[in-house]
Amino acid sequence: MTQFLNQPTIIIFDFGSQYTQLIARRIREQNTYCELLPHDLKASDVKKINPIGIVLSGGPNSVYEDDSLQIDPEILKLQIPILGICYGAQLLVHMLGGKVINSDKQEYGRTSINVVSESLLFKGLPQSFNCWMSHGDSITLLPDGFKTVASTDNTINAVIESEYKKIYALQFHPEVNHTEHGNKIIEHFVVDICKSKKDFTPQKFIDYTIKEINKSILPSTKVVLALSGGVDSTTLAVLLNKCIPENLICIFVDHGLLRKDEAVKLNKIFKDVLKLNVITVDARDRFLAKLANVTDPEKKRIIIGHEFIEVFKQETINMSNVEYLAQGTLYPDVIESAGSHLLHKNLKGVAHKIKSHHNVGGLPENVPFKLIEPFNLLFKDEVRNIAKALSIPDIITMRQPFPGPGLAIRIIGSVTKEKLELLQLADDIVQSEINAANLGSEIWQAFAILVPVKSTGVMGDKRTYADQIVLRAVTSSDGMTADWAKLPYPVLERISTRIVNEVKGINRVLYDITAKPPATIEWE
Ligand code: XMP
Repeated sequence: MTQFLNQPTIIIFDFGSQYTQLIARRIREQNTYCELLPHDLKASDVKKINPIGIVLSGGPNSVYEDDSLQIDPEILKLQIPILGICYGAQLLVHMLGGKVINSDKQEYGRTSINVVSESLLFKGLPQSFNCWMSHGDSITLLPDGFKTVASTDNTINAVIESEYKKIYALQFHPEVNHTEHGNKIIEHFVVDICKSKKDFTPQKFIDYTIKEINKSILPSTKVVLALSGGVDSTTLAVLLNKCIPENLICIFVDHGLLRKDEAVKLNKIFKDVLKLNVITVDARDRFLAKLANVTDPEKKRIIIGHEFIEVFKQETINMSNVEYLAQGTLYPDVIESAGSHLLHKNLKGVAHKIKSHHNVGGLPENVPFKLIEPFNLLFKDEVRNIAKALSIPDIITMRQPFPGPGLAIRIIGSVTKEKLELLQLADDIVQSEINAANLGSEIWQAFAILVPVKSTGVMGDKRTYADQIVLRAVTSSDGMTADWAKLPYPVLERISTRIVNEVKGINRVLYDITAKPPATIEWE
């Protein structure tokens, strides 16, 4: 069990919904610790965790199918508050003796819901509001002791509950932004029903981690830390530097896939502002050589992750007593890369692999170090709050997230030195125009992508036949879902004009107007 700090915990059973992580984030926003666990956890293990609440996620299955995913029925007897969402709601009904059928009245998307009887979940909310539905199955018979709390035009039993059994079943998704008052509904479950004291705070995490690190790292052992300059690894470096400054060796690998002049700027901050002990390795040529002619994005990620480890091995081979590698891996990296079973090696997870993010996906099987990943149960905004609590300056905490494989996954197809330089120039224009327009704080990420598809242009009376730059700018609160940023036309115009004028080899700039989902933020 990875249960944290004996912290009051809400367990989320993962049935493979694309929104499961969002449920976790929403609960964490209530300063309440929660963990995603596989649905087949035994009641005896649940008892050991002693959670204050349980959430059953949505999922693609139907409960009446033979091999539908279930939970241990004994869990329903534990008297722990349970919230079932979509598939989770149908599963509760099915297991408690009600009936779920494949309905001819399917509901997908925004739907108006009417609250028809009093419920703690909807305390203080309007009687009617919009919610986000995504279901083909309907609850037609309620289990004993349940009542209907809310209905839609097509679904009478859109929300049912038994306050006595503390079991709540919602056909809609309160965790997605499209559901009005979704956060309130989750807050009501977490605070009013599960009685969370909302005491999972950044300072508590810091104190706990410092205590654990001090306990487990012997004075004679060294910890190397892969410092990228991102919020996660930098916050980790500062945190470790607080408790084991003598043991900590930060290694900053300049793989040449960073933004223009980024390596120099970062080094200055590490040394002058954060007072970190940093070794900088110029590995630009070796990364480029390894990436030559590689076009597959996942292969690029694996190669870069692998090369990182090789660089570390070489850098540390002559250091004595290096036992640990510290990484700023986050919870979404772990879940998105391989499903919740990564955290629970003996248990089966069902989350669907989307991309192998480098922190996890790129690591070879036999890493010669023990891993220290204190953030691997945290979301990015939680790490930002920890950074603030550690007084790390805004220049780091407010940096845009930047992928470990860097510009390599923003050059579609093979990576060369020339393409890298070209993309760095275009990206630098994007950054400077976004900053000049004071849009930095509204935007989650803004960047250029080099798409080597040639098109015709005309410049100075001459025909050109050149590549294109795609501009991607998104708003998001966590990177899991995102919307394309509605950048003002004059900003778009300046970026486009400057790129075509200043970056040789580009004659066209396009703006990506796709949300995530269905697209991802990065192009590869
Ligand atoms: P996607 O493209 O999956 O990205 O919508 C979500 C967030 O993750 C970042 N990202 C990565 N970060 N290694 C990383 O460290 C990677 O391989 C990687 N791929 C995507 C992306 O920039 C966005 O913030």
